[in-house]
Amino acid sequence: MTANSTHLLIAGATLADGGRADLYLADGVLADPTSAPEGVERFDADGLLALPGLVDLHTHLREPGREDAETVDSGTAAAARGGFTCVHAMANTDPVTDTAEAAEYVAGLGERTGHCEVRVVGAVTKRLAGEELAELGLMAASGAGVRVFSDDGRCVNDPLLMRRALSYVKAFDGVIAQHSQDPRLAGPGACCHESEWSGLLGLPGWPSQAESVVVARDVQLAELTDSRVHVCHVSTAESVDVIRWAKKRGIKVTAEVTPHHLLLDTPLVAGYDTTFKVNPPLRTSEHLEAVREALADGTIDAVGTDHAPHARQDKDHPFDVALPGMLGLEQALGVVVEVMVNSGRMDWATLVERMSSAPARIGGVAGQGRPLLTGEPANLVLVDPSARAVVDAAASASRARNNPYHGRDLPDPVVATFWRGRITHRR
Ligand code: DOR
Ligand code: ZN
Repeated sequence: MTANSTHLLIAGATLADGGRADLYLADGVLADPTSAPEGVERFDADGLLALPGLVDLHTHLREPGREDAETVDSGTAAAARGGFTCVHAMANTDPVTDTAEAAEYVAGLGERTGHCEVRVVGAVTKRLAGEELAELGLMAASGAGVRVFSDDGRCVNDPLLMRRALSYVKAFDGVIAQHSQDPRLAGPGACCHESEWSGLLGLPGWPSQAESVVVARDVQLAELTDSRVHVCHVSTAESVDVIRWAKKRGIKVTAEVTPHHLLLDTPLVAGYDTTFKVNPPLRTSEHLEAVREALADGTIDAVGTDHAPHARQDKDHPFDVALPGMLGLEQALGVVVEVMVNSGRMDWATLVERMSSAPARIGGVAGQGRPLLTGEPANLVLVDPSARAVVDAAASASRARNNPYHGRDLPDPVVATFWRGRITHRR
C-alpha cells in the first residue's frame, strides 16, 4: 500500500457493532465497495476492527514558541500513530492563539502537515491573562473557523468574564472548554493530589474540591446563559457528581477525561519522577473508579488526551518546580482499551462514541466522527484488538519524551490510520 494511495479496498474488516464489511476508499471518501474495480489495491483486514478516526479535543502542539518540545508536524505525526484523524490545538502557545491572525497561522501549519486535521482552539482571554476577552468572534469568523475556546493551563477564574464568554460564543455555537482549577485553593505551587500522599511526600497538594467548585460554578453559568461549557480533564469524583446533576437538569455541559486520569494514580509520584507531574494531578483510586464509571455511563462524554509535550530541561527539576504535563496521543487508545474495554466496562461501539463521535460533535467538526458508511469521508483507524507491546518512550513520533507509560505493557491496537482516504500511519 502506497502513502498516496487514493483507491484502496479494505477487505473483511469488523465494525464496532460486530458486523463485517469491505470498505472502499476512493478519492477521500468511502465508496460503494461493489464498485471497486478489478485489481484495485487491497488491504486484508481479517481479524481487524475498522473504527472511525479518533478525534482529540485537547492537544498541546507547542508551535509557535516551543518547537523544542513539539511542532504541529511532530505532534500530528504522533496523533496519526495513535489512530487520530483530528486534533484540537490548544491556545497556550507563544504567542497565545488569541487573535484571528494567530488562529489562521496555526490552522495553516496544520494544513501543511498532512498527518491529520488540525482544528484551532482560541484563547478565552487575551494572553490567557484572565482580564479581558480575546477576539472570540473574529476567531470564529476567521479562516480557522474556531469553535472551541479555552485558556487551558489556566482557569478562567473571574465569574463575570466566564459569564460573558459563554454568552458571546452562543451566537456561533461555540463552546468554552474550562481548565477547572480554583487558583486560590490550588495555588501556583500545588503539584500533588491533596491526600496522605502529599503529606508523606512533602509536596504542596490540591484538593479535589479545587476542581469541583469551579465545575459547579460553571455549569450554573452555562444554565444562566443557556450556553455550552465543556469541562476539560475531569479528575475527581466530586466533579463527576456535579456534572451528573447538571446533565439531569438539562444544562448544556460536556466533559472529557484523559487517558492518564483513567489509569495512573497518586502513588506514582512517590518516586518524585516529574514525568508524573500533571495538572490536574494524578488522583487516588476512588477518583479513578468514579471517572471510569462516568465515562462508561456517558456522564463524561469524551476522552481528551491533554497531550502535553515538554522539553527535557523543563522536566529536569525538583518536582514542585518542573512543568506539569505528560504525553498522551500515541497510547490513548491502548489505555482506553485496557481500562474500559478489556475490563468489560465498555464495548467498542461506546468507545467509538467517546473517542470519535462525541468529540467531533463537541468541537463542531463536520466530516469527523462519522459512521463508516458509503458517502462519508474516509477517516478511519484499523485496530488489532489483541495486540500488546511494552511502551518505549524513545520510539515516539513526538519530540518530547515525557511519556508516563514508558516500560508498561499495554494494548498496542493501532495497525493503520487513514485520513481523507490517505494512509497516515502504518505499523
Ligand atoms: O499538566 C498540564 N499541562 N495541564 C494543563 O492543563 C496544561 C498542560 C500544558 O500545557 O503543559
Ligand atoms: Zn488543562
